[in-house]
Amino acid sequence: MITPQTIQTILARIDIIDIVGGFVKLKKRGTNYLGLCPFHNEKSPSFTVSPAKEIYKCFGCGRSGNSISFLMEHEKYSYVEALRWLAVRYNVEVEETGVTPEARIQFQVSDSLYVINSFAQKFFTHALFETEQGTDIALSYLVQRGFKEEVIRKFQLGFSPEDRTAFARAAAENQFNGEYLLKSGLVAIRNEELVDNYRGRIIFPVHNNTGKILGFGARLIKNNDKAPKYINTPENEIYSKSKILYGTWFARQSIDKNNECLLVEGYTDVISLHQSGIENVVASGGTSLTQDQLRLIKKYSPNLTIIYDGDPAGIKAALRGLDMALEEGLNVKMVLLPDREDPDSYVNKIGPTAFKEFIALNKKDFILFRLDISLKDAGNDAAKKSTIVNEIAETIAKINRVEDFSKRQDYIRQCSELMHIDETGLTTLVNKYIRDRVAKQESRHQNTPEPLPVQEGSEAAQGLDDGTFEILFQHQLQERQVVKILLEHGSEKFDEETLVADVIFKELVDDDLFDDKLLYRIIELYKGWYEAGMAPSIKSFVYYEDAPVSSAAVAVTNFPFEESKRMRDEMILNSSGYSQKLFLNNYNDFIRITTKDEEALHSFAKAEEQDIQLRVVSSMNYLKLKKIKRLIEQNQKDLQLSHTPEELIVLVQTHQHLKDIEISLLKVAGTVILK
Ligand code: UTP
Ligand code: MN
Repeated sequence: MITPQTIQTILARIDIIDIVGGFVKLKKRGTNYLGLCPFHNEKSPSFTVSPAKEIYKCFGCGRSGNSISFLMEHEKYSYVEALRWLAVRYNVEVEETGVTPEARIQFQVSDSLYVINSFAQKFFTHALFETEQGTDIALSYLVQRGFKEEVIRKFQLGFSPEDRTAFARAAAENQFNGEYLLKSGLVAIRNEELVDNYRGRIIFPVHNNTGKILGFGARLIKNNDKAPKYINTPENEIYSKSKILYGTWFARQSIDKNNECLLVEGYTDVISLHQSGIENVVASGGTSLTQDQLRLIKKYSPNLTIIYDGDPAGIKAALRGLDMALEEGLNVKMVLLPDREDPDSYVNKIGPTAFKEFIALNKKDFILFRLDISLKDAGNDAAKKSTIVNEIAETIAKINRVEDFSKRQDYIRQCSELMHIDETGLTTLVNKYIRDRVAKQESRHQNTPEPLPVQEGSEAAQGLDDGTFEILFQHQLQERQVVKILLEHGSEKFDEETLVADVIFKELVDDDLFDDKLLYRIIELYKGWYEAGMAPSIKSFVYYEDAPVSSAAVAVTNFPFEESKRMRDEMILNSSGYSQKLFLNNYNDFIRITTKDEEALHSFAKAEEQDIQLRVVSSMNYLKLKKIKRLIEQNQKDLQLSHTPEELIVLVQTHQHLKDIEISLLKVAGTVILK
């Protein structure tokens, strides 16, 4: 863990204008700076940076934050990555605690591999542009394929000379360690001599999402049946094929702006599309997608569009990733290219404009697309059709996260229409698959928390499924979420009269809703400062002298979950015309306010302040659920003791009352996303 002292030194040196200005062109306007928002497309600037407050805010899309959150949002860094980036930029030596010797070694090896790769990239690029062999053999090949110098330079392509030891010699001259060179895959041992591995090949560096080089793909220049077309870096401390997507470093901002990630197969597809002005594209490297890769995509956007070759192999490759993508909650669309074309060849054939049109016109919803193919294939064969119904139900059952409930219902409706079957029948089948899987999961991990008894057929039961209970009762997550909201938004308006902090303090009268006492200590500290008229910020805690408190505060803000904007929109839709706000002033007094006002709902979706409202209310609800669960348990224990009939009636009524509250809370809590 990075020490609080280091963090303090870094924060003291931060200059938000310098940091944001490195990514956004800023102009001074009065005391603030103004520029075009990097988070959404706009023509006139509404992105404002305040050097005095050390924050930025966009009046167009509402995104706001400080230097660190800017790096996290814009560069997709984690909190720690952002700190490291700042440490390098401001020359701060990073002190760390709690690093195990193994981790230290792993860190050293990784560091050396990055250095070697960076050196190798420069060597190969030099060989491509500045040597006769490079320009004659490799550059001319790339140019003949239609790649312009600008894009070749942007992707840092290179050439590995045909000489057996050209790179190995250069590496030796620079005193790189032989063991690490072997690990990097750039060289191999032949007769006790280090020789180059990628001789005579075009080099494609593979960058991580902070722009560092993880490894390389090396392509033959002339196709040759004996040698593999591409050689890739072997698995090592930094290159792990299943976790990498080629192109994320170049695509990240465009994915953000388009809120869509295109997925292709190859290096050359990514590069050609960039050259054609399509930048929100990454490549899987021709293998089926892994869960880690899907999560990486999810970090950027929930909307994934797969563009594959339209031949049977291409379709098969695309289908393989589907179920997993659905489980990750991605919205998957697909585009099939004409047979034997890949994005690179096709965009070169028809040009960028026609290519973009083709994508827009041929983008299909993946589940419906698959159903369509299978139905055509089955024709009138009843047995085949029944298999399809089962398959589609199983697929839809994979859309199983709480917040995707309405999406699942939509698919059930559309698919039953396509198959000409009864919607309730399909719903029942989907539910069966969900139950089957839950049962399987439960038998696998025995010690998951016991699910709350939700009555079959009750409203709450319909909207909830296996994941819900686990999510709901990962108490610590909820506690962290409350602290995070307090630290980040405590001094913002909850409504006209109250601030977010007021609402949280009103609900949290004592520490019995908090299992993590350190987290509760942050709340108490905040309260103390707040009541003394100060407006505490994350910085106040980072600077706080008590190290456990300050690192807990840092860890909370580092905590990687947030409701995405899409989810918030969906939540509002889910409430089907009602915005429900639940308040629980004390545990026996439950007030529910329901507004049914379309207009209010509309502004609800838009206003940032109300956005916060929703987050506050839902995260508090989670804590209340926990409390209710405990009260129910207590009441049930009481019930087992001997009672007079009158007492018994009161206890039973109390039980019913608590259950009602629980179900109402579950209904609201069930629409919230936790990543
Ligand atoms: P392709 O064979 O479609 O190559 O493999 P490509 O990317 O279109 O390259 P060009 O256009 O023929 O030059 C797709 C991807 O599969 C991986 C690479 O990542 C490649 O970009 N691949 C392919 C390998 O890793 N090894 C191979 O031998 C072949
Ligand atoms: Mn190709």
